[in-house]
Amino acid sequence: MVNNIAIEKAKTSKIHEVDFDNLSFGSVYTDHMLVCDYKNGEWEAPKIVPYQPITLDPSAKIFHYGQSIFEGMKAYKDEDGKVFLFRPLENFKRLNKSAERLAIPQLPESFFMDGLHALIQLESDWIPTNAGSSLYIRPFIFASGTGFHASPANEYKFIIACAPSGSYFSGKVKVLIEETYSRAANGGVGYAKAGGNYAGQFYPTKLAADKGYQQVIWTDDNAHEYIEEAGAMNVFVRINDTLMTAPTNDRILDGITRKSILDIAKDEGIKTEVRKISVHELVEAAKNGSLKEMFGAGTAAVVSPISGFGYHGEDYELPELKDSYASMLKKRITDIQYNRAEDKFGWRYPV
Ligand code: COI
Repeated sequence: MVNNIAIEKAKTSKIHEVDFDNLSFGSVYTDHMLVCDYKNGEWEAPKIVPYQPITLDPSAKIFHYGQSIFEGMKAYKDEDGKVFLFRPLENFKRLNKSAERLAIPQLPESFFMDGLHALIQLESDWIPTNAGSSLYIRPFIFASGTGFHASPANEYKFIIACAPSGSYFSGKVKVLIEETYSRAANGGVGYAKAGGNYAGQFYPTKLAADKGYQQVIWTDDNAHEYIEEAGAMNVFVRINDTLMTAPTNDRILDGITRKSILDIAKDEGIKTEVRKISVHELVEAAKNGSLKEMFGAGTAAVVSPISGFGYHGEDYELPELKDSYASMLKKRITDIQYNRAEDKFGWRYPV
């Protein structure tokens, strides 16, 4: 337990400059941030300071070797002004799983949980209440220690920054099934939330965007035969009435929204399958009409319906469904997150 996290308050607030009715995703930041330094073999006490630029030595290892990891979380405000996080301990555990893979020292649980709690309490006025908006929270750790030697740094910074945010996608998402590039490989870092996993997607995603697709669906690095994830979200496929998603492995992020959606779907009596889904099966299902819907799931993406996919020069449109699993599951998960429904799974975390 970190008692009394030191707080240095901002002299003035920027909150009145923000147009809460027209929020984009992750582009304006709150007044404060949590900062915690790792030096001399230990994490120092976290503190909350005014949101500000940080100064780094040009030889900081983050710049040269990309030793950095992050998490994505959200804070929600209900109609009575009560504030909640969603399964924050899962983010903490995954941050340390990523840290282990990137040779970053393990962060104590209390530094993460108590620091987060204090920061969100302080910034609670920044949590938007408009439909579909929330306070996006970005915890991250990077190598601030210096040296051109290609080895782990001896100093790190853990920071939590927050951004009042609207939707990540503006509408349905058109995706391209990747046939050339790979996001991750067996034994690699695909399962970790390493910054480089995202940078590596930018170029193939730009090529896809030039052809009119917003996201790439990554396929296995072996023969591009099975669908994996979409980089900013895990992917779900409904064939007839069965909802399926790829199993997590070395290459796929163990999404917290993904596993919550699976639990809710089972609770709704939907038949779910966690198994490899081949591109061939997907294309055949699209052709014979058994492919009913696809959607992405993630903290930023929430549940984002997919309008269709491109593969091998062909576009496959998905039908408009009245009773889609995506809209039902989105309603159920957001009702839990915004405290509009019973929390039978115990996922809500009051702040
Ligand atoms: C999130 O959903 O929080 C993520 O970290 C994905 C990121 C690409 C926005």
